[in-house]
Amino acid sequence: MNRDEGENPEVGTLTGDEVAKHNSKDSCWVIVHGKAYDVTDFLPEHPGGPKIILKYAGKDATEEYAPIHPPDTLDKYLPKEKHLGPVNMDTVEQEKKEDSPEEKARQERMKSMPPLEACYNLMDFEAVAREVMKKPAWAYYSSGADDEITMRENHSAFHKIWFRPKVLVDVEKVDMSTTMLGTKSSIPFYVTATALGKLGNPEGEVLLTRAAKQHNVVQMIPTLASCSFDEICDAREGDQVQWLQLYVNKDRKITERIIKHAESRGCKGLFITVDAPQLGRREKDMRSKFDDTGSNVQSGDKVDRSQGAARAISSFIDPSLSWKDIPWFLSVTKMPIVLKGVQRVEDVLKAIDYGVHGVVLSNHGGRQLDTARSGIEILTEVAPVLREKGLEGKLEIFIDGGVRRATDIIKALCLGATAVGIGRPFLFAMSAYGQPGVDRAMQLLKDEMEMNMRLIGAASIEDLRPDMVDVSSARHHGAGPTDSLSETAYDKLITPYQMLKSKL
Ligand SMILES: Cc1cc2nc3c(=O)[nH]c(=O)nc-3n(C[C@H](O)[C@H](O)[C@H](O)COP(=O)(O)O)c2cc1C
Repeated sequence: MNRDEGENPEVGTLTGDEVAKHNSKDSCWVIVHGKAYDVTDFLPEHPGGPKIILKYAGKDATEEYAPIHPPDTLDKYLPKEKHLGPVNMDTVEQEKKEDSPEEKARQERMKSMPPLEACYNLMDFEAVAREVMKKPAWAYYSSGADDEITMRENHSAFHKIWFRPKVLVDVEKVDMSTTMLGTKSSIPFYVTATALGKLGNPEGEVLLTRAAKQHNVVQMIPTLASCSFDEICDAREGDQVQWLQLYVNKDRKITERIIKHAESRGCKGLFITVDAPQLGRREKDMRSKFDDTGSNVQSGDKVDRSQGAARAISSFIDPSLSWKDIPWFLSVTKMPIVLKGVQRVEDVLKAIDYGVHGVVLSNHGGRQLDTARSGIEILTEVAPVLREKGLEGKLEIFIDGGVRRATDIIKALCLGATAVGIGRPFLFAMSAYGQPGVDRAMQLLKDEMEMNMRLIGAASIEDLRPDMVDVSSARHHGAGPTDSLSETAYDKLITPYQMLKSKL
């Protein structure tokens, strides 16, 4: 008999029939990764509510469980005596699930997926991912809050800033390396924290770790990763740099343990998310079939799962978090502390007063407060005030949201940002093409960056200065009427699919 230490000694290798008998709320066993667990007593405590577990009572729940829960979850939250040991999976009845017409169509589309080399920019990965990703994963990654106005504005805001390039500058050699929070990076962007990596690829966040290593860029580890925190740290190589994104738990002892563990595992920055006292309402995600168990209204379940698993797994986040807590964070760690999700100059000035080391001007990729301003626009408000007050350099300023081109990165740096975070493009590249996809996405950005630094007349990051951009229309919000003649005449850029079709 093959049994992990500490598991219930009364039970041998289980059969599927034995597990299947425990299929009710009075006795509820589930199989995860080939092992059985008695979750009867845990049902009322499950952050996602009992109903979703009961759906798998007596059955194999691995497929539903794996993308949402890091592998160490059961060890952490279920007492050892409830770990019932291995199950002979040959004896477990595999439910024959007929693929939906939608899923069949997706599989067909996978057959005509464009080769990776057909992706020439970060948007191309999104175009491919939309066709080949499973619907719930696509809905979770691509969605924004409410009308998705902020999500779209994040990208278009960069188009309201124009370059004032310098000429006759020696740009034979271009050095785009930089320093963020005291550590080196080959280029001023980082992989920002995005939850549930395994929805897009079974390897999840560790795939991003490996790609980040290859390109010497920093990775921010999400609190709500699908891989365990330790797995993501273990995947790090050499002097590779990782930061931790923190959702603050109501129980500060848990929060302190997480912070100290991250520090002991070598994390070089603590990014506290401050724009999510409650998770935004992402309707595309809600509409997707991710949660087909109904809302609490019908089910009597105390947890409202109508807003998807993300809402359920984030129920621990403390909405009472406030400025008063900042000194405590500074007292429990030596890691630099950065507030992620700051959206007005007044709060940047407060952050300086409180002695934190940085801010991310961000609206969470448009997933929180809709019609909040873009990070780049907030930067145009923040940077001049800091300069005027002589506070430049008092803290590091990062921005994220909608960064898709190296020109976007350059604009942020000209305006005074240390670096930018990039979220969805790497998720889409990973979901569509795995690690080679993320590798190509990062390389494309590097190639664009080198070229555009030459074209703007900057040989190094220090050369990127405010006078190289014209921000006079950056804060003009009025959307003018569409110029229909030029819209009609314009030869639209195409996706990799359209390119392949046009060659037939
Ligand atoms: C699918 C997804 C999950 C995210 N999860 C988190 C999270 O768990 N914590 C957090 O602080 N930010 C999270 N974010 C926000 C990102 O860190 C970042 O602010 C945003 O993605 C930047 O915009 P971009 O996707 O346009 O690059 C998430 C974003 C996406 C798209």
